[in-house]
Amino acid sequence: MSNTFAITIDGRAVEVQPGESVLSAARKLGLDIPTLCYLEKCGPLNSCQVCLVKINGKLVPSCGTKASAGMVVESETEEVHEARRTTLELLFSDHVGDCLSPCQRLCPLMLNIPVMLRHIQSGRLSEASATVRQALPLPGVLGRLCHHPCEQGCRRGQWDDPAAIRDMEKFVTDQEQEIGAVHLPLNKAGSGKAVVVIGAGPTGLAAAYYLTREGHAVTMVDRREQAGGTLRDVPEAQLPAAVVDAEVALLARMGVEFKLRAELGNPLTLDGLGRGFDAILLTVGELSKDEAARLNLPMAGAALKIDPNTCQTPLPKVFAAGSCVRPQKQIIKAMAEGRAAAECVNRFLRGEPSRRPEKTFSSIMGRLDPAELKTFIQSSKSGGSVSPCDRCVGHTRQEAVTESARCLHCDCHSSGNCVLQHYAQVYGADANRFKSERRKFEQQVQAGGIIFEPGKCILCGICVKLCEQAAEPLGLAFVGRGFDVRVAAPFDEAIERGLQKVADECVKQCPTGALVFAEKHAESAND
Ligand code: SF4
Ligand code: SF4
Ligand code: SF4
Ligand code: FES
Repeated sequence: MSNTFAITIDGRAVEVQPGESVLSAARKLGLDIPTLCYLEKCGPLNSCQVCLVKINGKLVPSCGTKASAGMVVESETEEVHEARRTTLELLFSDHVGDCLSPCQRLCPLMLNIPVMLRHIQSGRLSEASATVRQALPLPGVLGRLCHHPCEQGCRRGQWDDPAAIRDMEKFVTDQEQEIGAVHLPLNKAGSGKAVVVIGAGPTGLAAAYYLTREGHAVTMVDRREQAGGTLRDVPEAQLPAAVVDAEVALLARMGVEFKLRAELGNPLTLDGLGRGFDAILLTVGELSKDEAARLNLPMAGAALKIDPNTCQTPLPKVFAAGSCVRPQKQIIKAMAEGRAAAECVNRFLRGEPSRRPEKTFSSIMGRLDPAELKTFIQSSKSGGSVSPCDRCVGHTRQEAVTESARCLHCDCHSSGNCVLQHYAQVYGADANRFKSERRKFEQQVQAGGIIFEPGKCILCGICVKLCEQAAEPLGLAFVGRGFDVRVAAPFDEAIERGLQKVADECVKQCPTGALVFAEKHAESAND
C-alpha cells in the first residue's frame, strides 16, 4: 500500500494504486461513468469514447487514462455530461434498430405489445396477463374502448393488416375471467403517505392504480353510487357493466379504498382533506365556474388552472388532472393523464420536485423499404388479420394464437438489457440529433441460434478481443475500411463459425443488441 497516491475527482480525494485507471478510481467513489467498450479482462479498447472526463482542460477517455499523483479530474459536470451525451448521439446517427417497437411507442401507456403477443402465441396466458396489467390500469375497459393508436403504427399494416392489438388485450382479460387467474403487479413497500383522489372516472382510477403501486395509501372519493364515472354511461353492448365492476374490484384488491356517495362540499372540504391526507388529486371531470369558485380554485377559460409540468394547483398539496383541466375525448389519453398526475404526486410525496414521467428512450429505425420488410415478414405467420368467428364472444384461443403469430417482433432483442440504451436514457440522448440516411436493416440468423444485426454493432471490439484471448480457431475480426468497417468472421464464414468457444460470453458482453441468442427473444418476458 505504501506507493499508493491520491487524485481528486470532482473535489473528492481518492487513493489509487500505480497503474490504475481514472475509471477505476471514479468507481471507487461510486461514480457511474458510462462505458460501452470497457471490460476489465479486455483492458482499454478506447473505441467508444463515452467514458469521457476532463483533465487539465482536455476531455479524455477515463478507461484508458492512468491516474497520476495529484491529478485533478472533472466527471459529473454539465460540460462532461454534454460531451458524453453527444458521443452517444453520434453512435445513434448510424444505428439501425428500434429499442421499442413502433406500436409500443405509440401506446400512451407504453404496453409492451410484442411481449404480450409472444405470450399469447405460445399459450402463456398468465404471463400475458402479467404483461398487460403491468402497463395498463383497466385493460378490460381499454380492450373494448381504446381507439388503438398502436395499430396505426403497426409494421404489419405496411404488408397487409395491422396486428389486432386491442382485440388481443381484450382476449387476455377475457381469459383471466375464464381461468380465474389475474396477475396484478406488486405494490412497492408502503411509503407511509396517504393520497385522496376525488373523482373515480378513467383519469382518477388510472391515477389510483399508479399511486397504489408506488406504495401510497389511496382513498378514492366519488359522488356516484359506483366507481367508473363516464364509463358507466357507455352502452352495455360496448362496455358491459360487469367489466367495469371487475376492474374496480381489482383496484380494491390492490389496496384502493373507495368512498362512494361522497361529494366535495360540506363536510368534505379541501381544507379538511388536507389535514387528513398528504396530497389531494382532483379528477372530478368538467367543473363549472361556480364549483371552482366554491373550491377556491382559479379557472383559465373553462378549466382549472394548473402548472402543466407538475399538475399542481395554486393550493398547497392539491393537484388536478383529466377533464377538469382539459377536455378528454379519448379514454387512453384520459388514463395517460392520470398516470402523469400520479407521477407528479408520487414525486411530491417522496420530497422530490414534481414532474411528469420521462419518455422511455428508443432508437427509431423509421419506415422499412420493401426488402427490409420482407426480412421481418419471413419469420411471421402469413395472411391477413384473423377475425373472430363470433364477434360478440371475441377471439378463441386458436384464433388469438394465429393472430398473435402475425406480429413481426419489431422490438430489439436486447431492449431492457442493452447498455447503450441504458446510458442513452440516463443522459437524455436524442436518437435523431445526428440522423442521416441510414444503413439497410440486416439480420444474419445463424444455424446455432445466434442472431447478428450489423446495424446495431458499435464496433466496440469486445467480441474481437474475447475471441483473441480464448484463441478461437477462426474468431472475429474487423473487416473493410473507413465507413464500411464491420465485425465478421474471416473468409466470409458465418459469425457462428468464428465463435466456437466464446459465443456465450460474446453475447453476454456485447453492449448492444448486435449479438443475441434467438430463443431468448422468443421467450422474452423482459417487461
Ligand atoms: S441495440 Fe440497444 S440501442 Fe440498439 S436498438 Fe437494441 S436496445 Fe436499442
Ligand atoms: S408487427 Fe408486432 S411488434 Fe411490430 S408494430 Fe405490429 S404489433 Fe408491434
Ligand atoms: S458485435 Fe462485437 S464489436 Fe459489435 S457491439 Fe457487439 S461486442 Fe461490440
Ligand atoms: S473508451 Fe472508455 S469505455 Fe469505451
